[in-house]
Amino acid sequence: MFKSYGIIGWPLGHTISPTLHNWGFDKLGVEASYAAWPVSTGDLSSFMGQVRARPISGLSVTIPHKQAVMDYIDTVSDRAAQVGAVNTLYWDNDALCGENTDVIGFIAPLRSLEKCPDSAIVLGAGGAARAAIVGLKELGIKHIGVANRTHAKAELLAEQFNVDCIYWEERMNTPWGLICNTTPLGMSGEFETLSPWDKDGFTPGMIAYDIVYNPLETRFLREAKAAGCRTISGLEMFLHQGLAQFQLWTGQDMDEAGARQLLLDTLNS
Ligand code: ATR
Repeated sequence: MFKSYGIIGWPLGHTISPTLHNWGFDKLGVEASYAAWPVSTGDLSSFMGQVRARPISGLSVTIPHKQAVMDYIDTVSDRAAQVGAVNTLYWDNDALCGENTDVIGFIAPLRSLEKCPDSAIVLGAGGAARAAIVGLKELGIKHIGVANRTHAKAELLAEQFNVDCIYWEERMNTPWGLICNTTPLGMSGEFETLSPWDKDGFTPGMIAYDIVYNPLETRFLREAKAAGCRTISGLEMFLHQGLAQFQLWTGQDMDEAGARQLLLDTLNS
């Protein structure tokens, strides 16, 4: 039976998820297609009815539905429950299940390092920061800090996840092993020329990880690299959250190197 997958969000804007998943289906000869479905908050309930009725075989879920969708599914993974958000729906027999592959995607490039850093600071306190903190904990990183422009939000996260709360102004005072940017600073558009870290605040040996992938090399990563730091681009997190979704849906692994090249070509075109 031909299977139907897609992404829901509002406003959905441009998304490269269809490019990735349709390429994977094609490469592996899976009879399926992946569409972009703009679904507003008011339409979520009726859309979730369709997910069961049609049925839709799997979904990517993005802003603003990552929390609300949890009310419409049968099981939520421990990981997604910890984050408090679901970005992937898949079927396990007749049960509609929720997972958070943002965490899996965030962790993947860190797992392939020869040595995991022993300390990490997360910049920002939104949904992406929550996924990053859960990922860092899953990796077993002992010393985790969170810093946010609005300190009260960092305090809430620090309390919930039992990590250190760092004042935004003091974020560069500690020699963190890993710096994770989850703010939009550096993203193409109005934030592109900005960075969440001073270039003099990098020391060689630090790892700079940006979850922004457009542009591929943000100012944060460029300056980190120039200071002798290892860098990880947001493309890795995006790629690996997608590969994990594809695995949950098809039980098959997409060709990682080919998929990375596809995304690089798409983003550079
Ligand atoms: P997401 O859920 O995708 O992570 P979000 O909830 O909008 O996105 O979070 C964006 C984060 O970037 C917030 O922590 C925000 O800080 P505030 O809580 O102070 O708003 C942070 N952010 C946005 N613009 C920023 C800026 N110009 N400087 C520093 N931090 C910024």
